[in-house]
Amino acid sequence: MLHTNLGINEKGHLTLGGADVVSLAEKYGTPLMLLDKERVRRNIRMYKKAVEECFGKGSLPLFASKALCFKDIYRLAKEEGIGMDAVSVGELFTAEQAGFDLSLAYFHGNNKTDADIAFAVDHGVGTFVVDNEDELRALQAYLETVGKRQKILLRITPGIDPHTHKAIVTGSVDSKFGSAIETGQAEEITRLALSLKNVDLVGFHCHIGSQIFEIDPFTEAADVMLRYIAYIKAQTGFEAKILNLGGGLGVKYVEGQTELDYAAVIKKMAEAIKLRAAAASTAFPLILLEPGRSLVADAGLTVYTVGSVKTIKGYKSYVSVDGGMPDNPRFALYEAPYTVLLANKAGEKANFPCSVVGRCCESGDILQENVSLPSPKRGDYLAVLCTGAYNYSMASNYNRIPRPAIVWIEKGEDRIAVRRETNEDMIRLEV
Ligand SMILES: Cc1ncc(COP(=O)(O)O)c(C=O)c1O
Repeated sequence: MLHTNLGINEKGHLTLGGADVVSLAEKYGTPLMLLDKERVRRNIRMYKKAVEECFGKGSLPLFASKALCFKDIYRLAKEEGIGMDAVSVGELFTAEQAGFDLSLAYFHGNNKTDADIAFAVDHGVGTFVVDNEDELRALQAYLETVGKRQKILLRITPGIDPHTHKAIVTGSVDSKFGSAIETGQAEEITRLALSLKNVDLVGFHCHIGSQIFEIDPFTEAADVMLRYIAYIKAQTGFEAKILNLGGGLGVKYVEGQTELDYAAVIKKMAEAIKLRAAAASTAFPLILLEPGRSLVADAGLTVYTVGSVKTIKGYKSYVSVDGGMPDNPRFALYEAPYTVLLANKAGEKANFPCSVVGRCCESGDILQENVSLPSPKRGDYLAVLCTGAYNYSMASNYNRIPRPAIVWIEKGEDRIAVRRETNEDMIRLEV
């Protein structure tokens, strides 16, 4: 099986965290997102331990909550003692409502509106990750009005190519995110931040992209950032206390992809940073990492009911399910690979080549192409594995299709975390 929390039971049914996926589909209906809570907890603990051991006390993983955002996930982050990153007031509000201490929140985004800035300052967000000069001036103006100071990191683009899909590259010089070292704008914004009365610059941030399997781009980015910190110290006397290296470590979605040992990657990053810090005679900063995908992806799967099965003679076959791009737009966006199987025939030989498609009125509504399933029939349960990240958080109501429920699985128990949307929910905002 793709990950160790998946299995097949004596009925030949797929299991997640020991729970029978077919029974849960029958109990809660489909489409349904199942989340293995123990797996998320295990992933968080592994990251926290590795970060603390490799970078020292005070260094911390922050959950990049864009990957999966609902109240209970912030409760879990709080229980496990990690921070979080948010990119919108919606995410901050959800975290706050869940009782998450916003002083441990890092507020991202390349276009924070004045209202976003006001909300975050008023609600005690610990650190802004300031993207650009425009935002920095707007933040200073608001802080001056309300007579407050705010801790900030500056988002810097290190100019690294991480070899991933272009839609999820973020650290190149021409990115919409951050200020580039190469163009001199990083230094300009750093000098500006140091000159402003109400902001307290504590360090720098970079994030090179997502779903990255190679380690070198991370160590290169860390090296570039350490050089930058040393350069700024020499130029201005300012020594960064914090270096946030973002997220981006890849997750195995299909056989053939690498299964990264995250703790080993973190160790390599730490070695590179220690070497560079020693060479540049800079103090070793506190290191923050922002994993999203690698904390939650393998904890989730989505189960659907198979509807129409159609073969176009001489061409191809389609297996349609009762969800699709509204709950998982990642194939439609960038042809993201997923492992697909029938949960009620998990042990059977796949003999039917097909494309798995959704129910939307859109040809691009595809969950996966060129897969094989064991004689799929109407009423079978189809599972898409490893959907914990960037599925629910990217879901829409396209074609007025309600979002699925999320069910936690923990120690053999199952419990609704987010209820299924209803047709009434579809019109709740309408006058
Ligand atoms: C600034 C920032 N931090 C962290 C992440 C999380 O990345 P991942 O889910 O690949 O770990 C992202 C996602 O792209 C991001 O933009």
